[in-house]
This record gives sequence, structure tokens and C-alpha cells, in this order.
Amino acid sequence: MFDTTYFPGAKRYWHNGQMYDWQTRQVHVMSHVLHYGSSVFEGIRAYETECGPAIFRLPEHIDRFFYSASVVNLESPYTKAEIMEACRLIVRENRLASAYIRPNLFFGYGNLGLTPKACPAELTVGAWEWGAYLGAEGLEKGVHVILTPYKRFHPSQINASVKLGGLYVQSNIYATEARRLGYDECIFLNLENRVAEGAGENIIIVKDGMVITNDRSESILEGITRTTILELAEDLGYPTRIAPITVDDFLGADEVFFTGTAAEVTPITRITDSRNRELPQEEWPVHVIGEGKPGPLTLQLAKLYSEVVRGMNPNYEKWLTYAFDSKEEAQKALNGKLKFSRKERITKF
Ligand SMILES: Cc1ncc(COP(=O)(O)O)c(C=O)c1O
Repeated sequence: MFDTTYFPGAKRYWHNGQMYDWQTRQVHVMSHVLHYGSSVFEGIRAYETECGPAIFRLPEHIDRFFYSASVVNLESPYTKAEIMEACRLIVRENRLASAYIRPNLFFGYGNLGLTPKACPAELTVGAWEWGAYLGAEGLEKGVHVILTPYKRFHPSQINASVKLGGLYVQSNIYATEARRLGYDECIFLNLENRVAEGAGENIIIVKDGMVITNDRSESILEGITRTTILELAEDLGYPTRIAPITVDDFLGADEVFFTGTAAEVTPITRITDSRNRELPQEEWPVHVIGEGKPGPLTLQLAKLYSEVVRGMNPNYEKWLTYAFDSKEEAQKALNGKLKFSRKERITKF
């Protein structure tokens, strides 16, 4: 039996066009992906709305999925439209009111040379309930991160602005190290010694009312949440800027926060600078951001984001794809599971 402690609500998954019970095992141990990380994936969330679960920015995620696939020469056996339908279906099949959705395209069983010449491209989609990625308390009160000396891949080495399975080994190693050392998350530099991003999150800073973030030329994955937040900030009337983030900018910012599908908008309130690993951990400098609690702009953007993804603001309905065809269908299938029924929707900022 597969333990579902870390996959609450998961009952079935989609594999190459068919639905399988969560307990079914069917990938061969000699599959190319297991040895070389030759896969691309997406991380997508569906939120509970008054019309049932709505998938946030699904077409944008699937566009990025195809872009990632093109970088590793993976040809999807399914079209974008078919994959979007599979995402909607998996939420319905699992009877989830809100969900994290994971499409994964990989080289399967065929040959084990580095060039996967005989390996078919296989596609799976899973869904389950995933709470706040960096913890509910972190989302509310802010997290303590560690600035590491480790560097993200430079664009001259590999196109790292994609969700390529093998690339995530670096995130895996240093996110684990950060937690072992007692921090919530790690921050990577880029080859130019500027700040790149977190293990699975982008970084946005606020300085003198300006919302600033970097782009792929700084060795980051340009997140969909990041793009969303930039648009929301502009709609709220704040100026935004795409520019490199130096370590001084980062440590001296008025506010700092993470953005990501999993992490959503998570304030960063403390940064421990561990770049000099010759020092013992007790001597790594600790920087408090602002007053050591989430700043006003971060809170305002986090609130608006949380309302937008839950369909509470009609100005951004364009970003929602409902899993069910109608509210009635959702109510019936979820059988009272929909807690959310908000009478008043927000019509103004
Ligand atoms: C390395 C990395 N950077 C940034 C992000 C944020 O991207 P998004 O907002 O599209 O989830 C993610 C998450 O997918 C990520 O893995």
C-alpha cells in the first residue's frame, strides 16, 4: 500500500489517458526518468470558489509545460487542450474542493543510454490537497530564510527557466540543508553573486514603494505567481520594476516576499547570511527585514492574491478555469464539501 500521509485526498491519478487507482504501480524501474531526471512538470493550484474548484491560470501553466518539454526534446503525446481537460478531470475524479495538480511528462521505459532514443514520452496527472507550502504560520507571520553561497545555473550553461525534473536536484539538496540548519527555506545566488530565487519560489522586494523583481537573465524560473503579483501591484497603483537584485538590495529592502504556486505569497521577515561558510553557524549575520513582521504592501498583495484565486474578485475571473461545468454539478459531486459560500464579492480594490 502507498501511504497517502503526504497526499491527502488523493484517490486516483491519470496516466496516458486513463484513470488509475492511487495504489496502482506501473512505471518500470528501468525507466529513463528514474535514472537521469528526464522529465518536465508543472505545479498548479485549484482553489475553492463559490462555483466549485477553479484552476488558477491553467492555460499559462500548460504553455510553460510545453515550453519546458521543448527544452528537453520531450514531445507530448497529448495536446494542450487534452492536458487541460485531464487537469479538470483529475480534480473532479478525486472529489477535491481545492487541490494541487501535478502534470508530469517523462521519458519512460525503452533504453538507458543518455539519449532516450527508444523511450516513449509518458504523461501523468495527479491531484491532492496541499496546504501552505511553507506552513500556515509562515504565510501569516513570515519566514526565516538562509542566503546560501550556492549558485543557480547560468543561462549560458543550461536553460534553467523551465521546470525540468533533473534541475530540481539542486533545490532538493539545499532546501533540505536549510531545514536541517533550522531555517524555513534557502535562497540561491546566481553566477554574478546577485540574488536569484528560492528553492521553489521567486523573490520580490519592496523599496520606497517600488515593487522589484528579477527575470530569467538572473538565473530564475519566471513564475506565474510572480507575473500575477506584478500585475496586481500595478493595478493597485504601485510602480514595478524588473531589475537584478543585489545582496545589498535584498538585505536592505523594506519588505521581501516569496511568490510561487505552492508558496503563494509568503513574507520573508528574517534572512541569515551564510555565504561565508568558514564562519561557524552562530556567527552568520542575521538581518531583520523591516520591523520583523510582514510589511503593509506584502499583506495587501497577499490578501488580493488570496481573493483573486478564490474567485472573489470579478476583475480577475479571466484567470480561473472551473473544474466542473456548473456550480450545481460541483455542489452535487462534492456533496456538501464546499464550505465556501461568499455572498458578497469584492468589486473594487
Ligand atoms: C525554482 C522555482 N522558482 C519559482 C517558482 C514559482 O513559479 P510559479 O509561480 O509559476 O509557481 C517555482 C515554482 O514552480 C520554482 O520551482
